[in-house]
Amino acid sequence: MAFEIIGTGRAVPPKKVSNNDLAAQIDTSDEWIRSHTGIGSRHYAEDTVACSDLGIEAALNAMAMAAGYTGENPAERDKAAAEIAPTIDIIILATATADYYGTPSTACIVQDKIGAKSAAAMDITAGCTGFVYGLETAAGLLAVNPERKRALVIGAEVLSKLMNWDDRGTCVLFGDGAGAVVLEKTNAENKGILKTLLYADGSGNESLLMRRGGTRNPFKKGEVIDTGICVEMNGQEVYNFAVGAISTTITALMESPVEGLGNITVENISWIVPHQANARIVQAARRRLRIPEEKFYMNIEEYANTSSATIPIALDEMNRSGKLKKGDLVLTVGFGGGLTYGGNIIIW
Ligand code: COA
Repeated sequence: MAFEIIGTGRAVPPKKVSNNDLAAQIDTSDEWIRSHTGIGSRHYAEDTVACSDLGIEAALNAMAMAAGYTGENPAERDKAAAEIAPTIDIIILATATADYYGTPSTACIVQDKIGAKSAAAMDITAGCTGFVYGLETAAGLLAVNPERKRALVIGAEVLSKLMNWDDRGTCVLFGDGAGAVVLEKTNAENKGILKTLLYADGSGNESLLMRRGGTRNPFKKGEVIDTGICVEMNGQEVYNFAVGAISTTITALMESPVEGLGNITVENISWIVPHQANARIVQAARRRLRIPEEKFYMNIEEYANTSSATIPIALDEMNRSGKLKKGDLVLTVGFGGGLTYGGNIIIW
């Protein structure tokens, strides 16, 4: 049994905000952001756009590709996606920036809008590792029931709406976007998602969190609220955790033989697709692991950190530009709030 990616898609809001654009609003500079993170710009959703809107667009693009359409015509895209919609059994949407708090899940909103009437739908909260967790969850749900054949896995975020603009060490890092894949259960051998490792270290839960609004810290009647729910982060703690998380995950993925593939060496790997949080984090881990720079796919310069969406956006960019070839061995590695981390080994 194999779990193959048969379609990829992404959706990035057209509004591009450069470091200099931000520097005109808050006390920062292009030089600081680039030198500390490798970020050059990010894309922000319009006020009317929520998480599900980006998730739906990414999903439709992935579904259309699964139906054989990769063109730019919206009507043709939707027609192709509609062919696939009734065949989707599961929708898993990873996000930290859901349309609504708690319920309904953003996945249910996507399910309705894309017409996936037979699909079960749920969200995953695993911070920036959400897509890595989502692939394994979807594969597991496909594996246990012979009647389930296809899953849609989405990472979608509108982080720009949950920033504290007075916290310049955090707000410059994040952007909006979504990526999606269609996963199909097949009888192929040595293809698709071969192995996934998932980890959590909840002792670091306060290093990256949204403190307000939940049952730990609910809003109180009469309380004057001048800062909305926002991402709070201890940058140094997250940095140190992240370098270790990448190193541990890649080492562990390569440590034990993979069924059908044997031992994985750096030479076998076509691409490592890391979560795009900070180019310096990836560099530090890369040096520690002694893996050449060209094995890592990076696009943080354009999009900044789109949390659960960075890996599927990267996969779609690589897929559509022809960088990913059939048979390529791809390692993903994610890390983020929770704290969570993990990675997948995929034969493309
Ligand atoms: N523009 C200009 N200066 C800034 C700034 C910004 N956007 N943000 C912080 N600074 C300043 C600080 O105020 C501080 O100034 P001071 O020395 O005068 O007090 C100085 O830069 C250094 O701040 P510090 O927080 O120590 O920077 P750093 O080298 O640790 O880098 C991060 C900060 C956020 C880039 C880094 O900690 C990081 O990348 N952490 C991981 C974040 C992450 O990836 N999170 C998501 C994980 S999924």
